[in-house]
Amino acid sequence: MIETLAQRVAEVRARFFPMTLPASVVAHPVDADTLEQIKCIIAPRIFPHDGQLRRFRTPPEREADLQLVRDMYAHRHRERFVLYSPDGEPVGWSYGQMEDYLTFYMHTMGLVPEYRGKGIYTAWLRGLCEYIGALGYERLTSHHQPNNRAVLIGKLKAGWVITGMELDESYGPLVKMAYYTHSDREHGFADVFSMRPPPKRGAQDKRA
Ligand SMILES: CC(C)(COP(=O)(O)OP(=O)(O)OC[C@H]1O[C@@H](n2cnc3c(N)ncnc32)[C@H](O)[C@@H]1OP(=O)(O)O)[C@@H](O)C(=O)NCCC(=O)NCCS
Repeated sequence: MIETLAQRVAEVRARFFPMTLPASVVAHPVDADTLEQIKCIIAPRIFPHDGQLRRFRTPPEREADLQLVRDMYAHRHRERFVLYSPDGEPVGWSYGQMEDYLTFYMHTMGLVPEYRGKGIYTAWLRGLCEYIGALGYERLTSHHQPNNRAVLIGKLKAGWVITGMELDESYGPLVKMAYYTHSDREHGFADVFSMRPPPKRGAQDKRA
């Protein structure tokens, strides 16, 4: 039997999901249509100011020109999850996709306000990063607006680091963050940026 990539991903996913989180919230993998339906229902409660921001969007007349690129992009490995309350109501979502051969890009995570501040994000980061690491990825990344304290602090506390800043034509200033699924890579991040003392100067060096 030929083992497909999708089957291999599904086998790993089945070891982690459904995933129970604090407040008896359960994260389930979902398909693209389900995610879109749930987003339409709860997005206004999670990102209430979204429509008020001045965001550049692709003009509708250029959408057809983008179709080939979108179709190629759609073949990347993706993960989509909806978080359900104990009574089966959707209370959040999270999704992302492969960024490169080492990296999974965590696109968005959001919870409706009643479910915030209960440690759900902290537990989700732990579980998701473990799952993504089990798939073989060595790094997770994300982008966040610099005044989004909840997500920045939540990620820093969960062991993520700040790796950059981008100025995006649609989203404005964005802080880039990363999480390393192996401690040697995490140590690499610390080592390469540490300010090691310079080598001792020789006796000839008059500046000493
Ligand atoms: C970001 C978000 C998912 C955090 O979820 P959460 O479940 O409330 O987070 P947690 O309860 O796990 O909190 C994690 C840590 O972040 C910190 N934190 C959470 N909310 C905070 C806030 N509003 N201000 C400052 N720090 C905050 C806390 O210190 C907490 O650590 P502690 O438990 O040691 O005190 C949630 O606020 C949310 O859905 N926001 C709207 C959507 C959004 O902005 N998503 C991110 C963009 S992709």
